[in-house]
Amino acid sequence: MSLPKINPTKTKAWNELSDHFNSLKDGKMQQWFKDDHERSSRMSVIWEEFYLDYSKNRVTDETLTKLLNLAIEVDLRSAIDAQFSGEPINETEGRSVLHTALRDFNNMKPEVRETLQKIKSFSEKVIEGEWKGATGKSITDVVNIGIGGSDLGPDMVCEALQFYKNHLNVHFVSNVDGDHVMETIKSLNRETTLFIIVSKTFTTQETLTNAQTIRNWFLEKGSEADISKHFAAVSTNLEAVADFGIAAENIFPMWNWVGGRFSLWSAVGLSISCAVGYENFEKLLKGAHKMDLHFKDSDFRQNIPVILALLSVWYNNFFGCESECIVPYSQYLNKLVAYLQQGIMESNGKSVDRNGEQIDYQTGTIVWGSTGTNAQHAFFQLIHQGTKLIPTDFICFSESLYGNLDHQNKLLANCFAQTEALLQGTYETEVDNNFKIFEGNKPTNTLLIKKLTPETLGSLIAMYEHKLFVQGIIWNIFSYDQWGVELGKKLAKNTLGAIETRNPAAAQNSSTKSLINKAL
Ligand code: F6P
Repeated sequence: MSLPKINPTKTKAWNELSDHFNSLKDGKMQQWFKDDHERSSRMSVIWEEFYLDYSKNRVTDETLTKLLNLAIEVDLRSAIDAQFSGEPINETEGRSVLHTALRDFNNMKPEVRETLQKIKSFSEKVIEGEWKGATGKSITDVVNIGIGGSDLGPDMVCEALQFYKNHLNVHFVSNVDGDHVMETIKSLNRETTLFIIVSKTFTTQETLTNAQTIRNWFLEKGSEADISKHFAAVSTNLEAVADFGIAAENIFPMWNWVGGRFSLWSAVGLSISCAVGYENFEKLLKGAHKMDLHFKDSDFRQNIPVILALLSVWYNNFFGCESECIVPYSQYLNKLVAYLQQGIMESNGKSVDRNGEQIDYQTGTIVWGSTGTNAQHAFFQLIHQGTKLIPTDFICFSESLYGNLDHQNKLLANCFAQTEALLQGTYETEVDNNFKIFEGNKPTNTLLIKKLTPETLGSLIAMYEHKLFVQGIIWNIFSYDQWGVELGKKLAKNTLGAIETRNPAAAQNSSTKSLINKAL
């Protein structure tokens, strides 16, 4: 069973949505709320510790029905089944897409279970001080060396779960910028630091360069024999890892059926397990699995990822919105947007459909954002009064972790007030000049979660994973490859040749030649 290959714009539902859009596009949500007191209770989903209020969207019940019809017509149900049953739905690379299998404890592949056990015993030894460095000292610092999916997920989760952290200091080195590497390692003690090199392919220039630099730095005061006490690696390319000199017992496998940007649930999450302990890592996985079941089994009308994806398609393809904003009202989620940017934009930034044809409609949205309330004092002006329509997700928690009620009340008040201001604007109120007019009618989703825990974080991440999958299915694109990043990698190699040989003429493009000339 392969994925359906249906051009969404040729469906009956799309046609109907186009007509419907013309009659609804100028409708005012302010009026809809005034006329219909049941709107928010109807347009919301309660699931586990999540409450999604999507009533502040430019949709009516009729819009939702038509969007749901679109999901049915593009055969979303069979696409979901194909993904979960391990069909090779990443057709351009001939791979299954089974990050969901990494967190299904009732149905676990033996190699996944085995690797989880290895993660558990490794991280427990490190946390409990049983793992000794070459000079017999326990580990105080863990450095994750990776980039993209081998960095963003673990970094984001370690920051988000800071409250649950133990004594280990966890650092992330990603950029090939040598200053970034030096700033990270300058205060580290070689004797008490453990380096985890994470690279699915083990061919990524940035990661291998950083790993080599750090290895050389380590060897300034250590010997080759000490490497096994201070270096571990996570990869599918076991041969290359062994060539790098990592001891066999310190190598953690990855599998081609897990995409890099969906890999934090695998051994790529080793630094997470070190930072917050294996039990919390497992809770993160179990939270994600709960969302998998919700996505797989619930009716589309009550299905959070499906609803969010359909709303996004509505704005992207009918209102012509170019971007979506995500604003978590929790400083812990400071790195969530950067993480989601890779997941969403690397997956759905495509312009050829699943039939191999050039696409003539919009696909992947631009995703951006930052934490509230900081964002309110930075870019919210443009969302309120700018000329662009920017659907925004507000994410907040009913309880804070330290229980400071005064702060929590203010945080929540700001979150809710912003969504109301964006909705209401100055509708039907007198203002004394045009500059003070707020049109309102700006779409938002509010996701209220009980508390930030490893489990709810897992569910939240999985929610966005499934949302982007649904969007890809509707847009008839392959969400799980990323050919677009390859050309840049190839050109970087050629350009590096021109720079290293001090020969600008070797560059192909005249602008690049001049840039190299100036830089040297
Ligand atoms: O260049 C993009 C990419 O291939 C991502 O998809 C991936 O997460 C990242 O590079 C890192 O790749 P690797 O884990 O193989 O080093």
